[in-house]
Amino acid sequence: FETPFQGSAFAAVQIANLIRARQMEGKKCVLGLATGSTPISLYKELVRLHKEEGLSFANVITFNLDEYYPLEREAVQSYWSFMHRNLFDHVDINPANIHIPNGEWKQDEIKKYCLDYEARIDAVGGIDLQILGIGNNGHIGFNEPGSSIYSKTRLVNLENSTRIANSKDFQNISKVPRLAITMGISTILKARRILLMAWGFKAGIVARSVEGDVTEQVPASLLQQHNDCVFIVDQQAASELT
Ligand code: F6R
Repeated sequence: FETPFQGSAFAAVQIANLIRARQMEGKKCVLGLATGSTPISLYKELVRLHKEEGLSFANVITFNLDEYYPLEREAVQSYWSFMHRNLFDHVDINPANIHIPNGEWKQDEIKKYCLDYEARIDAVGGIDLQILGIGNNGHIGFNEPGSSIYSKTRLVNLENSTRIANSKDFQNISKVPRLAITMGISTILKARRILLMAWGFKAGIVARSVEGDVTEQVPASLLQQHNDCVFIVDQQAASELT
């Protein structure tokens, strides 16, 4: 797409069509959602579709990819806050249908909560459509380079480059959590359809992910193994594709 706005509008239409199709069948629609700067315009467009074109989220169930650890839910930097600020507070989703890994989980119980997160996804029939962004190091969710293709929801270490990229939301780098809870690569690959969005300066990593070797060193390259994954990019992010 020429601009991030056009790419976001395309992604929003994909989501809206799926929600409406499921509504017609009297079924739930299960969305996997991402945070970060990339999907902000997508969420803005979804809110517009709700307010101006009657798109209802009453049948929507969501699972977010990740959350910093430890971090209070109410902190402005939490992905819980991000999702409510940018989407959930402005649409008619049932709060009981919202799932976000919790940065307040007790450390000695995290394994249990992570297993439970996976079980909840399975219990609603799996994710219909997963939205992803991409880190400059190729991470998807917070699955940093080296993450196994078999990985599931778990506690991970963040790379320093990720902490630096995200430090703009915190007072300084030392305040950025060193850990996060993230869905795994296998959790993501189980989604029936995947839309990865990338804008601007990400051309290098987009090209490596789409045209490079499939390797755990570039987590997004593992998406080449999925049979319904689309990269939505603007002109700049597409500029290194051959
Ligand atoms: C966020 C997430 C991350 C981001 C990635 C890109 O939930 O899963 O993988 O998508 O770090 O972040 P932005 O969009 O801020 O460039």
